[in-house]
Amino acid sequence: MKILQLLENAPYSETQRAWLGGFFSGMRSQLKQNAGAANATVAQTIHILYGSQTGNAESVANDAATAAKAHGLKPVVTSMDAIDSDALVAMDTLLIVTSTYGEGEMPDNAQMLWEAVSAESMPTLPNLKFSVLALGDTGYDLFCKAGIDWDNRLAELGATRIYDRVDCDVAFEAPAESWISSVIPQLGSKDAASMVVDIESAAPKSQYSRKNPFPAKLVVNRLLTAADSSKETRHYEISIAGSELSYEAGDALSIVPTNCPELVAAIIKAIGCTGDEIEPVNGESMSLTDALRTHFEIKLPSKELVQEIATRSGNQELNGLLSTGDKEALSNYLWGRDTLDLLLQNPLCEFAAAEFIALLKPLQHRAYSISSSGKMHTDTVHLTVASVRYDSFDRQHKGVCSTFLADLVDAQIEVRCFFTPNKVFRVPDDNNLPMIMVGPGTGVAPFRAFLQERQYRKATGKNWLFFGDRNAATDFIYRDELEAMQADGVLTRLDLAFSRDQAEKIYVQDKMREHGAELFAWLEQGGYFFVCGDAYYMAKDVDKALLDVIAEHGKLTEAQAVDYVNQLKKHKRYVRDVY
Ligand SMILES: Cc1cc2nc3c(=O)[nH]c(=O)nc-3n(C[C@H](O)[C@H](O)[C@H](O)COP(=O)(O)OP(=O)(O)OC[C@H]3O[C@@H](n4cnc5c(N)ncnc54)[C@H](O)[C@@H]3O)c2cc1C
Ligand SMILES: NC(=O)c1ccc[n+]([C@@H]2O[C@H](COP(=O)([O-])OP(=O)(O)OC[C@H]3O[C@@H](n4cnc5c(N)ncnc54)[C@H](OP(=O)(O)O)[C@@H]3O)[C@@H](O)[C@H]2O)c1
Ligand SMILES: Cc1cc2nc3c(=O)[nH]c(=O)nc-3n(C[C@H](O)[C@H](O)[C@H](O)COP(=O)(O)O)c2cc1C
Repeated sequence: MKILQLLENAPYSETQRAWLGGFFSGMRSQLKQNAGAANATVAQTIHILYGSQTGNAESVANDAATAAKAHGLKPVVTSMDAIDSDALVAMDTLLIVTSTYGEGEMPDNAQMLWEAVSAESMPTLPNLKFSVLALGDTGYDLFCKAGIDWDNRLAELGATRIYDRVDCDVAFEAPAESWISSVIPQLGSKDAASMVVDIESAAPKSQYSRKNPFPAKLVVNRLLTAADSSKETRHYEISIAGSELSYEAGDALSIVPTNCPELVAAIIKAIGCTGDEIEPVNGESMSLTDALRTHFEIKLPSKELVQEIATRSGNQELNGLLSTGDKEALSNYLWGRDTLDLLLQNPLCEFAAAEFIALLKPLQHRAYSISSSGKMHTDTVHLTVASVRYDSFDRQHKGVCSTFLADLVDAQIEVRCFFTPNKVFRVPDDNNLPMIMVGPGTGVAPFRAFLQERQYRKATGKNWLFFGDRNAATDFIYRDELEAMQADGVLTRLDLAFSRDQAEKIYVQDKMREHGAELFAWLEQGGYFFVCGDAYYMAKDVDKALLDVIAEHGKLTEAQAVDYVNQLKKHKRYVRDVY
């Protein structure tokens, strides 16, 4: 209908209008008939639930919905935190798309529903038909664990699996498409409803997306940490002018990097190739050098490559670790060793170009939390990135993407990027509600964006930032901006934890505990609690501190405090962007 309205409102001459009049009225009545047909047949509802931390599963869920509509079904796409177990019991056809986070854990938005569904009190689901698509990364020990858990639990509850679970590695697009095209036709058949839906759906504003990244220009690359800091954190501004793309504070920008040319050359030499070997990659013929530059992960070795190096070299230590299946010992052995180290330490490992490529994983984009407000900066996206550089085995090692950006000297080189929206990590709609933000290190990134957003909206709600890093003198990034925001009154409170400025470490969670009474008071006033940064240590410790603060200052038992936190999560007042 929207397309018809646009056409009708276009500036046609009277003669054109007279001719088009007949066309529009014919088209409208056809659409009404189709809509009538759709109502008459009552399209079957299918539920698509997603568990997603950074948007991949959500985007697959939406793709599944598009395919379902095209088959005359009525898809309802829902985030797992938007429903409770009673709603699940009432469903009869369910597709689940979920990623795995932490160490084999559910993504944040799936945790509460999962707890309810895995409880002993969960009713059986004999009438439910389901299929699961699991997203994960074979680099993690518990590959696709969340999807596997859902699949097993639904079957255990008596639901009928209509199509076998598909587990996707980082290159999830092709297997996800194949799952969608296999499972959807089993749920219903094409009918007239799809025609109406297709016309109703708006065309995307921009031609650029995850599938077609925008070739952007890096316009600012500035060191934020002091030259004598023990770390290197940089501020980037990436131009999106001309892309017709837009973003919200809280979203992430994903960058598609290319590998360091020196590393590519060193690996080619180590495997005994020249780099000129021509190989087919994704249906295209290209030199080994180009393939390793742009298509494959060459820093972190795949499990298959580690195994092959062990077999070919006969390295006893490595073979021993692989055969015992002691994952922790293997991961300790691999820590600090990249693909080149493994090749150099096992010099008998020569490979033909095709053999080597077959053992590599595709080069993946890296996500970065955006540190600007899309309302204040419509043409640029700001990022705050710590460059990964470390020495081990007598070489300097560089993180693929963070140093691709840091070392980009030629401003003409394209930075291919796409947005990864995070619909729950948002400044509250209500401008009067307080925000508490915990973001040590690069975790401060989205909170710079949130504060800009509040400034732009002239929001009156109070804002409290807990920031920390190693040393105040060298690592107090965005200090001028934050202090200016404090002076302006946008940043109501700033609590700082510089961990290495004294003998005993002080972390953001220590500051939370120190000011627990006030923190609890802000929560009681309807405050939102946001966390960004390290997932493995910081976010877990902050979670524990939040629980302790709530129990102590709310005078609650542990169970009541857990309930309080669950209510915050349920109402999206406790949300995290952790990595
Ligand atoms: C949603 C999301 C948002 C993010 N936002 C940000 C952000 O705002 N800012 C930011 O800086 N990052 C952010 N990240 C992390 C970012 O995506 C990358 O993971 C990070 O930049 C490292 O990527 P890289 O390609 O440079 O390093 P990689 O090439 O991926 O190398 C990293 C690997 O190197 C190894 N390694 C690292 N340090 C050492 C060491 N000292 N010794 C031995 N081995 C080591 C580890 O195996 C590590 O996994 C975010 C991640 C996600 C998922
Ligand atoms: N999963 C991941 O891949 C992942 C996660 C986080 C960061 N990183 C990468 O690591 C690099 C640096 O990250 P960054 O600048 O964000 O942070 P960072 O340098 O690791 O840490 C920032 C601050 O947090 C402190 N910290 C350490 N452990 C903590 C804990 N348990 N609770 C609270 N605070 C704690 C640090 O103190 P001390 O160092 O003095 O102990 C430091 O003061 C980046 O490349 C980033 O991408 C990767
Ligand atoms: C911090 C972190 C932890 C992860 N842990 C796991 C894991 O334990 N097992 C796994 O298979 N994948 C793991 N992954 C990979 C994600 O599941 C995968 O990237 C997925 O595509 C993300 O989808 P999402 O954007 O919908 O959350 C992890 C990713 C990150 C960034």
